[in-house]
Amino acid sequence: MKSALPQIDERLSHVAFIMDGNGRWAKKRGMPREVGHRFGAETFRKIANYCRKIGLKTVTFYAFSTENWKRPPKEVNAIMKLMDRYLGEIERDIAQYDFRFSFIGDKSVFDEKRRARMKAIEDMTAGRESTLNIALNYGGRDEIVHACNALIAAGKKAVNEADFAAALYTGGQKDPDLIIRTGGDLRISNFLLWQSAYAELYFTDCLWPDFDESKLDAAIEDFYSRKRRYGGVL
Ligand code: FPP
Repeated sequence: MKSALPQIDERLSHVAFIMDGNGRWAKKRGMPREVGHRFGAETFRKIANYCRKIGLKTVTFYAFSTENWKRPPKEVNAIMKLMDRYLGEIERDIAQYDFRFSFIGDKSVFDEKRRARMKAIEDMTAGRESTLNIALNYGGRDEIVHACNALIAAGKKAVNEADFAAALYTGGQKDPDLIIRTGGDLRISNFLLWQSAYAELYFTDCLWPDFDESKLDAAIEDFYSRKRRYGGVL
């Protein structure tokens, strides 16, 4: 690992991760896919802590999509177990996890106990400066439909972009500046569809369990070499 931390400024406040490649990582080692998720969860912890250390204001991790239920039940259960374990860790060490937690996605599929735990963690960490979004049963299209229904239920007849953004699961947060996808695929997979409009995309072949601080540094360096024009000219 490099000794100097990357210098983060106002150009980079939100980084989002598509943590892909856990299954392949395990398969390459002759292990079941669930083991890949276990190592992936370790990488998630490590990278979340590092993001806090280097001063990112918002970090988002795509932990489970609305489409991931199609996986074998054994694998889905393993991911849910990892999630429960992580919820337990946050509850136990709430002071150490220096983030405002936000669980984004359609949580209605989770049982009352899990939902209550997530809500309690969100409430207990509400005043903190940096936000950690964990996308669970998240889909960008689902989020857009959910926002439309919330606006209709609120009696809106017409909305502007700001109203719409506020009705998303990420309401009130800045859009991602940089989206990093590990695992080699070049797609967005229904992640932050509205919010990614002007995000810089960074793809790496590295499988998520192998992703580390130096690889994030490389992605950040690449981000700072780009010119963001937002449709204008520089
Ligand atoms: C994608 O890899 C990864 C997932 C669908 C699950 C991500 C979950 C974790 C990292 C662990 C749990 C998270 C938390 C927040 C504790 P893949 O299985 O699609 O890999 P593949 O493309 O190699 O098959």
